[in-house]
Amino acid sequence: MLSWDEFDKEDDELAVKSSTPAQAKAAATLDRLDSAGGAAALEARAATAADSDAVKRAKAALDDLDIAEGLAELEGSAARVAVDEKRMINCRADLNQLVPFKYDWAWQKYLDGCANHWMPQEVNMTADIALWKDQDGLTEDERRIVMRNLGFFSTADSLVANNLALAVYRLITNPECRQYILRQAFEEAIHTHAYQYCIESLGMDEGEIFNMYHEIPSVAKKAAWGLKYTRAISDPEFNTGTPETDKELLRNLIAYYCVLEGIFFYCGFTQILSMGRRNKMTGVAEQFQYILRDESMHLNFGIDVINQIKIENPHLWDAAMKEEATQMILQGTQLEIEYARDTMPRGVLGMNAAMMEDYLKFIANRRLTQIGLKEEYPGTTNPFPWMSEIMDLKKEKNFFETRVIEYQTGGALSWD
Ligand SMILES: [Fe+2]
Ligand SMILES: [Fe+2]
Repeated sequence: MLSWDEFDKEDDELAVKSSTPAQAKAAATLDRLDSAGGAAALEARAATAADSDAVKRAKAALDDLDIAEGLAELEGSAARVAVDEKRMINCRADLNQLVPFKYDWAWQKYLDGCANHWMPQEVNMTADIALWKDQDGLTEDERRIVMRNLGFFSTADSLVANNLALAVYRLITNPECRQYILRQAFEEAIHTHAYQYCIESLGMDEGEIFNMYHEIPSVAKKAAWGLKYTRAISDPEFNTGTPETDKELLRNLIAYYCVLEGIFFYCGFTQILSMGRRNKMTGVAEQFQYILRDESMHLNFGIDVINQIKIENPHLWDAAMKEEATQMILQGTQLEIEYARDTMPRGVLGMNAAMMEDYLKFIANRRLTQIGLKEEYPGTTNPFPWMSEIMDLKKEKNFFETRVIEYQTGGALSWD
């Protein structure tokens, strides 16, 4: 390991190679590595009579490998990381070094997400298939709820996954949070898989369901509202680093975590889980229950990230941004209320659109206060307290008690 004193004594060549002190230090370290390991590497790489042309070309290509060039492409400086250098956005420390942790909560959520692993094919869909195919099995209103929700969710989770992978991941400059984002992105893939699995099991028209976000206004509006907030930051040229661009990222996080995952999913979750409670479509309901458990963790992670960005960048959280964030949550609530009316033209499953409106206002108050804003629907109470009970269930307990699989131990490898 070089000290700064040693670096100062290094020759001019290093200074030419490197533009910043951190890069210079890293380049010097690599030069040491190269000279120490060079002899053994050269010996191993020497061409032998047994080498095919392809092997010779591979060895020759490595002779030209410039490790300093590879280093220059790494994000952040290449020095050892001190915990107080870590930041949620615009961090300069090396992002390839996971530890030391700064945000223990993010790592804990990664571990909890892994411990909650599940797969859609483990859920028994037999009763659902029989009920769906029976002409008298469900009422028209109940069928509408199943169709609309599979229509909305089958594409909504892809929107969330794309936003994570194509926009957010690059801009969150913290490795333990990125670790969770990768886990979340995989969970979103599992959710899309779950909807596909339900649609296929029930023999639905796949084109009709997957294209619903273009065809049904109450579904299309929610998707369009979310897409609006991913457009700017998914541009590969977009970067944070100014108050304006940092606010653009913050808007995206509020749109996706607080509104899409925090409000847009809740009418559908409540409807499908209410169906399961009445012993109808229990397989679909069980899928949704696992998804809801994952989603409540996504939401909590997003809230923590947003609040941490506010702590580290208080200038971003000014009166205008607070007003904007409040408006976003209220717009999202309104769209979800419209979705509730469209999916429940009449009372069904012991609920109706007016009760759902109260529930969504109750949820909106929660989202507002979770990011430090004031309630906009004071005095609203929760008409569906059983939803909170489902969300609070421990991972080993299954709401419908059909099965329990623990993944913590993992499947054993077989070498046969
Ligand atoms: Fe999801
Ligand atoms: Fe999610």
